[in-house]
Amino acid sequence: MNIGREFYEKTKYPYLSQSDQSKELPPPPLETPQDGPAIDLPQPPTTAAGNTSVANGINRRRSRREFGSRPLALEELSWLLWASQGVQEKGEIRTVRTVPSAGGRHPFDTYLAIAKVAGLAPGLYRYLALSHQLVSLREDPEIGARLAEICLNQEWVASAAVTFIWAAVPYRSAWRYSERAWRYLFLDAGHVCHSLYLACEAIRAGCCAVNAFDDDTLNRFLDLDGVNRFAIYLAPAGPR
Ligand SMILES: Cc1cc2nc3c(=O)[nH]c(=O)nc-3n(C[C@H](O)[C@H](O)[C@H](O)COP(=O)(O)O)c2cc1C
Repeated sequence: MNIGREFYEKTKYPYLSQSDQSKELPPPPLETPQDGPAIDLPQPPTTAAGNTSVANGINRRRSRREFGSRPLALEELSWLLWASQGVQEKGEIRTVRTVPSAGGRHPFDTYLAIAKVAGLAPGLYRYLALSHQLVSLREDPEIGARLAEICLNQEWVASAAVTFIWAAVPYRSAWRYSERAWRYLFLDAGHVCHSLYLACEAIRAGCCAVNAFDDDTLNRFLDLDGVNRFAIYLAPAGPR
């Protein structure tokens, strides 16, 4: 059977294993812990969000691959992170965020390849959604060019102020949904990215979804094992 067809077939309800949640196993953490000094972000939602209506944002949304030279302001980055993964309620086993996710599992860690954000050295960062903070993972003045190469030489990627990279943590969702969770990873990632599109429109910035990348190289770049955590989707973004 074709692998895609088999995936669809074997993730139908009659084939699913009993979930770890229903076996009363403990839930995984709501967010992957991260060592390192945390950088506070301006509290969202901020005035950087402007006052664009949802209707206007939807109407104007486009995939944008050309960015201006102005750095992104920290308030703007804060807004984009909030709109795509911001936590509004933290429960014992789930979070409520600005985007939907099956069962409130939110099975992603957000990495940022920052090239031009005012006040932040170029390099790789991670967003701590629970506390709305960043952690710097390493400095890298060539991060944009490196990422463009990983994205199968899509050169425009290098001109983004910041690239959002969403890494899937499958067990966060599979704990509740067993094999069915693998469908939700890809569906949930779409919601996150689309929210980023609309949030960009609100501040006259732009972004473009990217799924053409070398998976193994990108996972190494992010120091992910490619099994328990792997890059699933990314979006270069910046002022227009
Ligand atoms: C799942 C997905 C993957 C995509 N991957 C890429 C990509 O690797 N490179 C790229 O330039 N655009 C990529 N795009 C953007 C599409 O090409 C774009 O959405 C399409 O051309 C329609 O244009 P619009 O978004 O402006 O309506 C991707 C879009 C989606 C939804």
